[in-house]
Amino acid sequence: MNHIIWYPGHDLILKDIVRAENCHLYDSTGKKFVDLESGVWCTSIGHGHPRIRKIISEQAALNSHSGFNYTNEVVEDSAREILALFGFAEGKCIFLCSGSESVEFGVRAAQTLSDRPLLMTMSDSYFGAYGSASQRMADEWFCFDWSPCADCPEETECNQECPYLASVPFDRIGGFLLEPGSSSGHVRFPPKKLIQKIVEIVRADDGFVLINEVTTGVGRTGKWFGYQHYDISPDIVALGKGIGNGYPVSVTIFAPEIANQLQTQPVKYAQSHQNDPLGAVVAREVVRVIREDKLIERSREIAAVLGTGLNKIKTGSKRVKDIRVRGLMAAVELEDDADNSFAIKIHRELINRGYIVGRRPGESMLRIDPSLTIDTRDIEGFIKVLSEILAGSA
Ligand SMILES: Cc1ncc(COP(=O)(O)O)c(C=O)c1O
Repeated sequence: MNHIIWYPGHDLILKDIVRAENCHLYDSTGKKFVDLESGVWCTSIGHGHPRIRKIISEQAALNSHSGFNYTNEVVEDSAREILALFGFAEGKCIFLCSGSESVEFGVRAAQTLSDRPLLMTMSDSYFGAYGSASQRMADEWFCFDWSPCADCPEETECNQECPYLASVPFDRIGGFLLEPGSSSGHVRFPPKKLIQKIVEIVRADDGFVLINEVTTGVGRTGKWFGYQHYDISPDIVALGKGIGNGYPVSVTIFAPEIANQLQTQPVKYAQSHQNDPLGAVVAREVVRVIREDKLIERSREIAAVLGTGLNKIKTGSKRVKDIRVRGLMAAVELEDDADNSFAIKIHRELINRGYIVGRRPGESMLRIDPSLTIDTRDIEGFIKVLSEILAGSA
């Protein structure tokens, strides 16, 4: 393992995973691990899904890549099926290769079409490894810290008389990029009234509403898309991770009106793999599997088991500070100590006992984001083992 550059700050935890099937990973000794992180939230319908394996081999045998000047009907057909999820029959989309890229393409489109200098976003969002949204330079972005809004009483109206919203330079903002649940951050969900108000103000000035659904999309939060919890409609949506089920495809989607504007003011963006047929059919097949197998409906039942179990754990352990759950996107906030040693210990013990959850370095939070196809017994097993570990650490 000396010749590969690994992500700094993240330990290489398991160095011998040789096989993956649905929600289980196996090492070379045959030891099984339940993957509650779904390969950094990518395997929406489980590792090695038979229909994805089949479509990849069929399409690869025909044509996986021929360059963006040489296409065929399968790409157009995949686009139509994905746009239909948003009701954008006359919209357009582009197939790309990573979540970072789909966000960046959406941002470039908004920047191209807007005559205002700034885009707005929440300060705890994550948008990718590169590009304008990841760097958020002050001359391009206004980042709003919504933490005071988290405690805003339900009955208080959200409006621009509130000092927090009054601080936003809406007259310079041409669009709002929302991550509807900060998955790479602290798994927090901004209040609905705040998001609706921001969208209303931005839209009133012909601004764009961009949604980053890289982690919250394709069923993660119990609905097809995370923005649906907010009763808002998007102009631009970025999909990644789960839309490829582990295959590196992402999609940026444009509502019809924006798609029309892009005809005369195109985004100048050339990339060798854009609109590759292989990625396009994988994305289409993921959507078909989720729809035909009713995986979102199924995931809500599993989420109820997960939520109930985690809340019980919180009630029973003083060392659990908070539980946050929306669909199959959950976080367990553990007691915070100076070096996160308690969280590190719990995380390690879970892995030793065969349960993989996410933990961000420097944090005392565990993240649980299993595939929609996970078996309830795996969730129950995880709850039991986590309870035992916490009881042993009381
Ligand atoms: C919310 C969110 N957006 C975008 C990205 C970037 O996706 P990718 O790593 O596929 O480029 C990530 C990655 O973790 C993410 O969590």
